[in-house]
Amino acid sequence: MAVIRRGEEEIRRQREICAQIAERNAARATAPLALVDTYGCQQNEADSERLRGYLREMGYAFTQEEDRADVIVINTCAVRAHAEDRVLGNVGALVHAKRQKPGQILCLCGCMMGEPGMVEKIRTSYRHVDLVFDPHSLWKFPELLQRVIERRGRVFDTPGGDGSIAEGIPVARTGRLKAWVSVMYGCDNFCSYCIVPYVRGRERSRRPEDILAEVEALVADGCRDITLLGQNVNSYGKDLGEGMDFPWLLERVCALPGEFLVRFMTSHPKDASERLFQVMAREPKIAHHLHLPFQCGNDRVLAAMNRRYTAAHYLELVEKLRAYLPDIVLTSDVIVGFPGETTAEFEDTLRLIEKVRFDALFTFIYSPREGTPAAKLPDVLTAEEKQANFQRLVDAQNAISHQIHQGYIGRTFRCLIDGVGTDPRNNLTARTNSGRLVHLSGPECLVGQFRDLVIEDATTWALFGRLKEDG
Ligand code: SAH
Ligand code: SF4
Ligand code: F3S
Repeated sequence: MAVIRRGEEEIRRQREICAQIAERNAARATAPLALVDTYGCQQNEADSERLRGYLREMGYAFTQEEDRADVIVINTCAVRAHAEDRVLGNVGALVHAKRQKPGQILCLCGCMMGEPGMVEKIRTSYRHVDLVFDPHSLWKFPELLQRVIERRGRVFDTPGGDGSIAEGIPVARTGRLKAWVSVMYGCDNFCSYCIVPYVRGRERSRRPEDILAEVEALVADGCRDITLLGQNVNSYGKDLGEGMDFPWLLERVCALPGEFLVRFMTSHPKDASERLFQVMAREPKIAHHLHLPFQCGNDRVLAAMNRRYTAAHYLELVEKLRAYLPDIVLTSDVIVGFPGETTAEFEDTLRLIEKVRFDALFTFIYSPREGTPAAKLPDVLTAEEKQANFQRLVDAQNAISHQIHQGYIGRTFRCLIDGVGTDPRNNLTARTNSGRLVHLSGPECLVGQFRDLVIEDATTWALFGRLKEDG
């Protein structure tokens, strides 16, 4: 299947529309205001930076106040019911902002708009929403917004399908030091609980030259911490030519000049290779952090999830990884209460985390997603039983994270000082190479620099350090 690549001409046309809207906006006494609100994962954060890039080219300034915004864009997440409920609650409440500010344009986009049932719900029950588009239509946001501005009624553009790749969309980055760079889009894994493959389309890789040019420009612009993004970065290049895979791409990125750190997410255990670990161990620019979601420690449940590995395979992978990178910080995602999971099966998950001793876990209670195979499976546990298992997992992990953090005390780590915090005693924040948060005090001019920090104290979630005098 050939990937559709949006031609330069198509994006140039969108930017011309931006210029037309900007001309109209320039005639106003003050710049009109836009608000972009983002839910969900880093992929959505990266998409929102593109929406803001387009809006900036259209002459909008940005606000956080709903009542003052001329355009509100809500970039939604469909991964769990909880995320969707939050979005719908907030969209419902925006009726009031619109009453305060007639003419305000409300746009909904992102993964929820890839669900046909949800789009119908917005059409019939959320009539104050003016524009709806799915992730596949993001590249033509200017054209869609222009149609709404010219008052041709509500606009819905949700083509669905396999998706395309669009290069050349302007980006308004939120941080100076950190940036997201998508290397691929979509997912072909179809884990049985997950909505992402349905709303984000098929796996497709950006061309390496486009990725390298973007990273090079970011580093030249002062960026020091770059996260390469994809639902499963280890599938990178399967649709490109011979020899182009993710470890190869990582090496090319690291060969770019400048002092910067490279991270990446997410890795699927079935595709994480020994070559990946070798490259991570060899390249000093790659952060010693791997997010490797295992989801569940029981083989029957893993098969029902369509994860295509066993708990034993996962443990072997971790062993290999640690042989190459003994100081690796390992994080993971876990789902508790998959349909049919018994408490005895859940206890295999507890055993797995005790064996691996992750630095941190992202834990979720299973949420049925309409249209996915798992949503049709029967439950054996009640909601209360699932909640109790969830709590056991959280407690066990918190104890592990706390112990691991205590082990940092007295040691020195090279950290990127990345911002000014809110605590006056520890006015700066920093990240270890592997992404652990450190609080410290020091002059603000250090922000953006790599420094050696001595860790003096630790809680379950954060470290407290001081500048090493000679660092
Ligand atoms: N592509 C990434 C994850 C994307 S979603 C990966 O495969 O690792 C992020 C996490 O949300 C998943 O790892 C999973 O733990 C969780 N998740 C996805 N669908 C879910 C559902 N229906 N209910 C609960 N958690 C879910
Ligand atoms: Fe969802 Fe699985 Fe794809 Fe991750 S790999 S996005 S969990 S289907
Ligand atoms: Fe959510 Fe879509 Fe990301 S469903 S987790 S925003 S890919």
